[in-house]
Amino acid sequence: MAIRVVVLRVFLGLVSTFKGILTYAAMFLPDFVFALCNLVAPDKPAGHVVHGGGQWPQYIPPQQGDCRCSCPALNVMANHGLIPRDGKNIKFTELANAIPRVYNLSPTFAFFLTSYAAHVLRRSYSIDRLDLSDIDAHNCIEHDASLTRVDTFEDPDQSKIAHALVDELLGSGTGPDGNLTILDVSRLLGKRRVDAKRRNPQFSLAPIHELFASANASMLLTVFGGRVADLRSILGEERLPDGWEPRVRHRMGLSILEFNFTAIPIEFNIREEVDGSMTSAGRQRYLCDGETKKER
Ligand code: HEM
Repeated sequence: MAIRVVVLRVFLGLVSTFKGILTYAAMFLPDFVFALCNLVAPDKPAGHVVHGGGQWPQYIPPQQGDCRCSCPALNVMANHGLIPRDGKNIKFTELANAIPRVYNLSPTFAFFLTSYAAHVLRRSYSIDRLDLSDIDAHNCIEHDASLTRVDTFEDPDQSKIAHALVDELLGSGTGPDGNLTILDVSRLLGKRRVDAKRRNPQFSLAPIHELFASANASMLLTVFGGRVADLRSILGEERLPDGWEPRVRHRMGLSILEFNFTAIPIEFNIREEVDGSMTSAGRQRYLCDGETKKER
């Protein structure tokens, strides 16, 4: 009996691993093809990047009882009715279809983001649904030291925009017209990590969350072009400016491969962890299930 259970578990483990490998292979291969197509095909003309040329459905801020989350981009979609306005009961597949139509991400990138969210929430991508606030489970995808939210320790409601942080971010651009550059975003992320560590006795940032932070921040530079004038409304009100279009105009949308050319330099240019200011007192590493491990 015991042997039968062991054999069954090993078999199911192998099936699940194999399924995972197949899913990711099935995603990264087309993603690579999309990146190649983007390299050779001309970009979409400005004004025609997304259907409707930037004429978005009406912005309505969240009403009493509506559900919002720590991700400004998803809140924007709900505020414009591009996903259910109440932010509830959204199919993962519906979200994956909607993201490219708003932000011009490649279908593979949109699938990766949504299927990863389903995975960490332990739900079925093809069957299940989510409320936006589900993605705020601390230290699953949501993490400390964000650019647009105070830490969960300071305010567990991660849907609240931290206007002081947003203003600081938008005031720190050194590019043309004060727009944000890779070095600006790296500097701000480093500063947030040091500040958050000082203010938050429960501060934690596992390596995977450092990468998520750089990945999310790189969206500010790719999809939103680092443009402070647009970001003021997108981050400050979670509203698309009239006529706004994604700054990435690639035919096949922003692929995972291309996106890494911005996300990785952002992470590599964060100095605070290299110069020691992040590690001197030792920091806690939180696991998704809330378990804590002290790092020295
Ligand atoms: C299913 C898709 C997505 C999921 C599950 C997701 C999830 C999240 C989460 C949990 C956060 C909070 C992270 C933190 O604690 O700082 C976040 C932040 C963010 N996300 Fe998303 N996101 C998605 C799609 C997108 C897209 C399509 C964009 C851009 C077009 C985007 C841009 C951002 C930005 C700019 C932040 C703010 C980062 C910060 O405050 O430091 N996200 N996202």
